[in-house]
Amino acid sequence: MITTTYISQASESYSDEDLLKLLAQCHRNNTASGVTGMLLFGNTTFVQCLEGEQANVDELLVKIGADPRHTGIKVLRRAPIVARNFSEWTMGFEQVTKGALAEVPGLCNFGLGDFNPEYLESNPEMVETLLRWGRRA
Ligand SMILES: Cc1cc2nc3c(=O)[nH]c(=O)nc-3n(C[C@H](O)[C@H](O)[C@H](O)COP(=O)(O)O)c2cc1C
Repeated sequence: MITTTYISQASESYSDEDLLKLLAQCHRNNTASGVTGMLLFGNTTFVQCLEGEQANVDELLVKIGADPRHTGIKVLRRAPIVARNFSEWTMGFEQVTKGALAEVPGLCNFGLGDFNPEYLESNPEMVETLLRWGRRA
C-alpha cells in the first residue's frame, strides 16, 4: 500500500451542496476501490491524503488530476505503508476555518491565511498536524 498527500487550489467557490456532492462521490468510489483518507478544505485550498493499494491510489490520482474543480495539484508526500492512518474513513472531511484552527493542538502562530499551498509546501509538519487533527474524532 501507499500513502500520498497533495495540495491544490479550488478553481471555483464551493457551496455546501458542492462539497456534499464531492464527498458523496468520494465515499461511493473509495468504498469500491478500498481507498481511505482525509480531505481538508479552507481558504480556497485543498489538502488530501489518500491511502490504499498503489494501483488504486494512482488511478484515482489521475482522475483527481484531471478534475476542473481544482488546479495546481502538487504532491507533497508519497510513501509505502504497511498500515493505514485513516482506516475508518472512506474520505474524512474537515473544513479549515478560523474557529476550527483554534481547536488544533500544537498550532500557535498559524492562521487561516497560512492554509495556502506556498506556506504548507514549506511546512510539511503543519500538514501532518492538520491531518492528525482531522483524524481526532
Ligand atoms: C479536491 C478533490 C478531491 C477528490 N477526491 C476524490 C476521492 O477521494 N475519490 C474519488 O473517487 N473522487 C475524488 N474526487 C473526484 C474525482 O476528481 C472525479 O471527479 C471522480 O472520481 C469521478 O467519479 P465518477 O467516475 O464516479 O464520475 C476529488 C475531486 C476533487 C476536486
